[in-house]
Amino acid sequence: MRTPMIAGNWKMNKTEAEALNLIRVLMQWVRSYSGVEVLICPPFTSLSTLNKLLVSSPILLGAQNISDQPPGAFTGEISATMAAEFCTHVILGHSERRAYYGEENVLINRKLKAAISADLIPVLCVGEVLTEREAGKADHVVSHQLQEALGGIHLEDPTKMIIAYEPVWAIGTGRSASPEEISDLIARVIRPTLSGLWGEGISQGIRVLYGGSVNSKNAGGFFNTAEIDGALVGGASLTAEKFLGIIEKTQKI
Ligand code: 13P
Repeated sequence: MRTPMIAGNWKMNKTEAEALNLIRVLMQWVRSYSGVEVLICPPFTSLSTLNKLLVSSPILLGAQNISDQPPGAFTGEISATMAAEFCTHVILGHSERRAYYGEENVLINRKLKAAISADLIPVLCVGEVLTEREAGKADHVVSHQLQEALGGIHLEDPTKMIIAYEPVWAIGTGRSASPEEISDLIARVIRPTLSGLWGEGISQGIRVLYGGSVNSKNAGGFFNTAEIDGALVGGASLTAEKFLGIIEKTQKI
């Protein structure tokens, strides 16, 4: 019922020329895959160029962040409507923005509302840090992040919201959560929280991706579980071979 999605978060990597090189290779191959949506989230500086190139490609484009404010005097920021000129999705609440730029759920909530008003589909990231996990608080942290970040948001179409569960201790560390642990947390915490906000029908239609050290070797294990609807990939999305290797794994389910 839920179409799998493989999303690449390029983070602060790739000049425009490097972005073009990578996307040209991806474009050649992505057409050969079926039943999977592929989303690329490059830095802002490449969005316009890639948008033009991808006009007749199934590859979707997303931003990595937006401002919570409407256009105006906000030096260094990009508004939702400006991003929406070039892309359809936006990553919000990524743990790197939470940790390094002090983004909290209240701000992320405003950004989500700005994104939805501009018809951008948010990819909302949630996940606990290692100390929270070790203290047995992962369930509470994830549920709280979802409730605060999504509070006051009305959602009728479940395809207009994507959740990415990214345990912070698994990001860029080579250490990933097991497919069973992730599925369990999605089933026990994420879906019931979404159901509490919008009802069971909507909750069941929202895609929940896993992120954190996903590579072509471990990806198959994640995608074989019913609860994990794809991946949000960092490091392994920066080379065509590695990223395509992950997409490939969705074809064997
Ligand atoms: P890695 O795949 O490099 O662990 O990064 C995951 C991530 O943060 C995606 O948003």
